[in-house]
Amino acid sequence: EDRGATAAALLSWYDRHHRRLPWRLPPREVRNGASPDPYRVWLSEIMLQQTTVSAVKPYFERIMARWPTVEALANADADDVMKAWAGLGYYSRARNLKKCAETVMDRHGGAFPDTEEELKRLPGIGDYTAAAIAAISFGRPAAVVDGNVERVIARLHAIETPLPAAKAEIRHIVQRLVPEDRPGDFAQAMMDLGATICTPRSPSCILCPVRDSCAARALSAPERFPVKAPK
Ligand code: ADE
Repeated sequence: EDRGATAAALLSWYDRHHRRLPWRLPPREVRNGASPDPYRVWLSEIMLQQTTVSAVKPYFERIMARWPTVEALANADADDVMKAWAGLGYYSRARNLKKCAETVMDRHGGAFPDTEEELKRLPGIGDYTAAAIAAISFGRPAAVVDGNVERVIARLHAIETPLPAAKAEIRHIVQRLVPEDRPGDFAQAMMDLGATICTPRSPSCILCPVRDSCAARALSAPERFPVKAPK
């Protein structure tokens, strides 16, 4: 039915056009049963929360090279971690990073837990990061909703409720769309669509894999969504 078709169209586009990013496995390997290392996914998602992909890339590569495992990071010198983070901003993230690594060692024997609920108990891991790790590393059908995904869904469904009031509705829609077999690729496909095609200004609808089921496009008004609250 239609929601399966939306996910299928998006995944087929992702197979061809996914961004090759250092923290990702190619979707083909994911389909063959390989799981992206939760340490890599966790580190990248924390870094990407308030920082752009292009700014994160070199920092991610350096931190991964220096501390390749959660154990290495747990044993790192706190000042060295802060220095490696310098320039990325939002330094509470760096402080929580080492705390979280230590907690994974102490409470979980060095293995990230594989449910959203347990992940959320770790320092610095909120709803978004828990869902991203659960979906991308552990194949759980979690609803991964960031700003890009909110925009994509607000347009697909021409949601008239402004943000943030529309958040619960958007989460509900994403939850229904997640395909059981490829939740991690689906989450990252939504992010890529929002970052490269369904952009805030001048979206490239002509290139969009789900344009035929997009309500905002049917209204010839993609940029009207998400609706802004009147001030
Ligand atoms: N932004 C946040 N998480 C991301 C991811 N996994 N890939 C690309 N951009 C992202």
